[in-house]
Amino acid sequence: MRVLGIETSCDETATAVFDTGRGLLAHRLHSQIGLHESYGGVVPELASRDHVRKLTPLIRHVLADSHSGGADIDGVAYTAGPGLVGALLVGASVARSLAYAWDVPAIGVHHMEGHLLAPMLEDDAPDFPFVALLVSGGHTLLVEVDGVGRYKTLGESLDDAAGEAFDKTAKLLGLPYPGGPALAALADRGTPGRFKLPRPMLDKPGLDFSFSGLKTAVMLEARDSALDEAARADLAAEFQQAVVETLTAKAQRALAQTGIGTLIVAGGVGANRALRGSLQRAVVSLGGRVFFPRPEFCTDNAAMIAYAGARRLQAGAVDDLSFEARARWPLDELSAPGVAESTRA
Ligand code: KG4
Ligand code: ZN
Repeated sequence: MRVLGIETSCDETATAVFDTGRGLLAHRLHSQIGLHESYGGVVPELASRDHVRKLTPLIRHVLADSHSGGADIDGVAYTAGPGLVGALLVGASVARSLAYAWDVPAIGVHHMEGHLLAPMLEDDAPDFPFVALLVSGGHTLLVEVDGVGRYKTLGESLDDAAGEAFDKTAKLLGLPYPGGPALAALADRGTPGRFKLPRPMLDKPGLDFSFSGLKTAVMLEARDSALDEAARADLAAEFQQAVVETLTAKAQRALAQTGIGTLIVAGGVGANRALRGSLQRAVVSLGGRVFFPRPEFCTDNAAMIAYAGARRLQAGAVDDLSFEARARWPLDELSAPGVAESTRA
């Protein structure tokens, strides 16, 4: 089965072709960073308009790259949420229309399901069950994954997501959008420990997170001390270290609580090198294994959407001729393909 995947939930337009027999055949991505940079963040209406401009050419390119014509495509998967509704609608309507024209099924995919299945795109893929640490711009989740569509949220952020904390802290330190990678680069030049930031919620039981206090603590440090370049780097390093330690400790706790030995990490913050190193060391010390998608499949991409859609279509999932775009969509609402959502335990 060969599936065209389309991702337009935020500020990346992406397309991919995944073949269940041959693996990922091609993927393309256009980042809107240049478009939103001068505004310091994503402007939803501009994002939607740019998806309209870029999506059709990117579909043409990815079909050509994968030597596929419309007749070779057996299904079209698109991100149906969560995300910016206007942006999602662009991908959803194009996907649904192409599927109608090609007389194949279309399937709406949950963006976070895409992220949590992304490690399956790698040659060394994890087996179920595993614990997923999903760290993106909009979500921080620990999820027990027993199979495709069998997800139990173990913990989540009560306020800012980890990526959002990176982005807001980067802005406080005068770094350009998108803040996460810029802050990580600055942190690499500094040393943690000179400033003391809290490790939020580590002293409390449970698997929930809270990152907004950390951002405020950075704001107070930045306001109260005149920061030269070295001090900014040290503050960035301490911030990154606080997030990394918190995520690592909670992930370890989730493995202990579930008795599961495998951790997967995905979502944009999963591209962070300090986090990858810390999780690797922590999980190996517990005798477990950790899997990461390659960094370009941690951040938003369509390969993960094509893959998740293919798994669902292969398992017999069917969507009708309508299409969906949901700004909010709890991951726990999903069910395994073939299981009616209302009958899900
Ligand atoms: O998964 P993603 O690409 O989009 C969403 O679904 O939100 O995640 C984007 C988030 C942004 O907050 C970005 O700043 C953060 O991931 N990010 C990073 C790094 N690369 C991306 N945060 C820390 N270190 C990085 N290297
Ligand atoms: Zn994402």
